[in-house]
Amino acid sequence: MIIDNIDFGEGLVLAPMAGVTDVGFRDVCSCYGADATYSEMLSCRAMIHNPKKTSLMTIYSPNEKIKIGQIFGHEPDIMAEAIKSPYLKQYQIIDINMGCPAPKIVKNGEGSALMGNIPLASKIISACVENSNRPVSVKFRLGIKSDMSLDFGRMCEDSGANFVTLHARTSQQGYSGNADYEAIARLKAALKIPVIGNGDVDSRESYMKMKETGVDGVMIGRGSLGRPFVFSLIKGIDYDKDVMKMIKRHIDILREHYNEDWLIKYIRKHLLWYMTGLKGGNEARAQVATSPSIENSLKIIENLIKNQ
Ligand SMILES: Cc1cc2nc3c(=O)[nH]c(=O)nc-3n(C[C@H](O)[C@H](O)[C@H](O)COP(=O)(O)O)c2cc1C
Repeated sequence: MIIDNIDFGEGLVLAPMAGVTDVGFRDVCSCYGADATYSEMLSCRAMIHNPKKTSLMTIYSPNEKIKIGQIFGHEPDIMAEAIKSPYLKQYQIIDINMGCPAPKIVKNGEGSALMGNIPLASKIISACVENSNRPVSVKFRLGIKSDMSLDFGRMCEDSGANFVTLHARTSQQGYSGNADYEAIARLKAALKIPVIGNGDVDSRESYMKMKETGVDGVMIGRGSLGRPFVFSLIKGIDYDKDVMKMIKRHIDILREHYNEDWLIKYIRKHLLWYMTGLKGGNEARAQVATSPSIENSLKIIENLIKNQ
């Protein structure tokens, strides 16, 4: 997949995941083969009125290959201004979130609420495209309650989007049920711009199933949690199996930017994901969940790995 001379390689990309895809995680996923990575979603209003928060969310690693900044909002003029923000300068592509189902986002008419307001969604895309010196993409779902992805995808194309990503579930579904790969195939067949398929890819097998839809790229979200090496597994490339080294690298990168009090609380979920599937992990997981320090958690995980 090539967008405006930006070569996505095999087009295997790490999904944006708010509260999860921090700079350390994006770094390790990139080292394991992710061709592109997204920022956590960035509020256009905050970018203009509270840029300190945005600056912490836009830290990046030199190992990230194609960096995509994901923005959200509901006001075309504010979004057109935000897209020129210096906080977004490191991103080669700007993605607009039109798929988030979280109530605090939807209640403002943002994220997936925009799928219920096609004229406004179109105005936002056009305003962003007109004011951006980089490609603009849109990530959306099937619809709010039912599948309207064809109409929505066509509108994105007509409004100037350079590519789209479809997470093939409705907003109402949240994360339940299976992603609808037939809808992804229909969208790919209908659009001229590239389509990235998203939903339930966590292995070479599911990746191949997604590729059968004809998509130009494949996005992985939850399938990477605790296993950023999923990108190597899918690409069939050899990778470093030293899990402790990977975990320590993730933490060391975060330590460069954030304070220890925040990190202790934040990193816990990642550590628990990293322990998934380890034999005898239940007791160790309970210990990590209440561990007073990161060093103590690392010792628990190291012992558990030694006993596999
Ligand atoms: C914890 C979490 C946070 C997410 N945050 C975002 C987000 O900020 N922006 C976005 O477009 N999608 C977000 N998503 C959706 C994912 O990008 C992806 O579309 C979804 O998880 C389906 O892909 P998967 O089946 O590979 O996980 C999030 C998903 C999860 C699980």
